[in-house]
Amino acid sequence: MPRSLDRSLGVIILAAGLGTRMRSQTPKVLHKVCREPMLALLLDALDQALRPYQGSRFNIVIGHGRDQVKQMVEGLRGSSKVQTPVIYTTQEQQLGTGHAVKLALESFQKTKLPFRTIAVFNGDLPIFSASDFEAFLEAHQQNKSVASLASATLDDAGQYGRILRASRKFVGVVEYKDATVSQRKIREYNGGVYLFDRETLEGALGQMKNKNKAQEFYLPDVFSYAYKKKKRILAYQFDDPNTLAGVNNMEELAAAQQTLYYKTAKKLMQAGVFLAEPRHTYIGPQVEFGSDCAIAPFTSIHGRSKIADRVQIGSHCDLTEVAIGESSVIRNSTVAEKSIIGKECIVGPMVQLRPGSQLKDHVRVGNFVEVKESIIGSHTNAAHLSYIGDAEIGSNVNLGCGFVTCNYDGTVREGRRKHQTIIGDDVFVGSDSQVVAPIQIADGTYIASGSTVTESVSEPDSLVIARTRQVVKPGYAKKYKRRK
Ligand code: UD1
Ligand code: MG
Repeated sequence: MPRSLDRSLGVIILAAGLGTRMRSQTPKVLHKVCREPMLALLLDALDQALRPYQGSRFNIVIGHGRDQVKQMVEGLRGSSKVQTPVIYTTQEQQLGTGHAVKLALESFQKTKLPFRTIAVFNGDLPIFSASDFEAFLEAHQQNKSVASLASATLDDAGQYGRILRASRKFVGVVEYKDATVSQRKIREYNGGVYLFDRETLEGALGQMKNKNKAQEFYLPDVFSYAYKKKKRILAYQFDDPNTLAGVNNMEELAAAQQTLYYKTAKKLMQAGVFLAEPRHTYIGPQVEFGSDCAIAPFTSIHGRSKIADRVQIGSHCDLTEVAIGESSVIRNSTVAEKSIIGKECIVGPMVQLRPGSQLKDHVRVGNFVEVKESIIGSHTNAAHLSYIGDAEIGSNVNLGCGFVTCNYDGTVREGRRKHQTIIGDDVFVGSDSQVVAPIQIADGTYIASGSTVTESVSEPDSLVIARTRQVVKPGYAKKYKRRK
């Protein structure tokens, strides 16, 4: 089969290091960029690019914090966010990137998956995208290369490994620690993304030594090995060095996050989303927008959120995994997570929609309203100072100012800590009323202001008054004041 028709790839991801320079207890690849673990961002990008390469496998090399890393990856697999199957290789001692890849190849052998083409990625590459991988794969195949790496140039390439060229021809990589003063001036660096012909890779790893400053087995030594064997090797240059930003410390983590937010913002603006202050609007790479949306500054939107046409979002909102229907307006300081908002709703200011909340079309919630695991029917209003938890509210309902579902009685009953409130259609709830759950209120009920409703109302169109009767005693006020 010609190389260009390789149907599947073995993709090794190096994630065993602690990331000493992060000065943190958290394994490096779990540090978050745009609220996603770096490793999740990389897996997501590669997973997309691997769609045409059916039968591909991820092989993640784990070591430090292996349980945490595995748990995160299994979470992505479980929720189908990553479809490519995953195997793991445990590297007990971090003896270098070459050692890690050697162990990973052994696990591919053991699982009878000896892929012909092996891709290797450092786990700390949060910006690298699916289209970057596609471009790199194409270059590797077109050049009939047996070993390729992705490179970029920077005026000061910091502590990256430097690309060595002899009259422009790529001949190998020297690590920063081992580089001479003049080699350190080389601007082209190794980005930690590789494609190898398996046999070449195995040959090189079989001979690899760790005679260097770090006393580690360096994966990039494969290139000088292949070059000496007169095989075709490639250093494929990416124009934008941000593509290959590797994160080794907190400063680089912050820089990578800024880069990814701005890259996403630029893409959105090109697609017609208006971001009034793109540098101060924080939208994760998986958020989707319809047309004619506008977002005010200091707002964050993350996860697989879907924002439909003509939605307007105010400032200081924080939205995660939300779906917002056409022409809805989300006003300042709305916090929402795992919630669905229908068409032409007005949400906020100062609203919290906690996970499991659903607003149907034309709903109005705002001015200090919290909703949790509740469905609110169309054309229903809860416009001031309310708590709506574990409730199903019908359509055309008015929930007056200060309405509260009392869903928790401090005990666990039938395995549930919280109790359900069901309110039918066309119900009017006067201001400052509470319903004590579990409770059901029939369609068309009219609850008088200041009521504390403790019993279900089964007859539609009833008037409910659940407050003490007013007493008026003429002249008593004067008397009372004199007494003091
Ligand atoms: C590496 C490259 C360097 C390149 C840079 C790009 C080597 C020797 N050097 O350097 O040329 O410019 O990436 O970012 O490869 N890891 C393991 N097991 C190990 C060692 C490392 O799994 O035994 C993992 C780490 O968790 C990390 C990745 O490999 O995800 C790269 O390791 P890191 O220490 O960041 O390498 P750099 O010094 O950045
Ligand atoms: Mg690194």
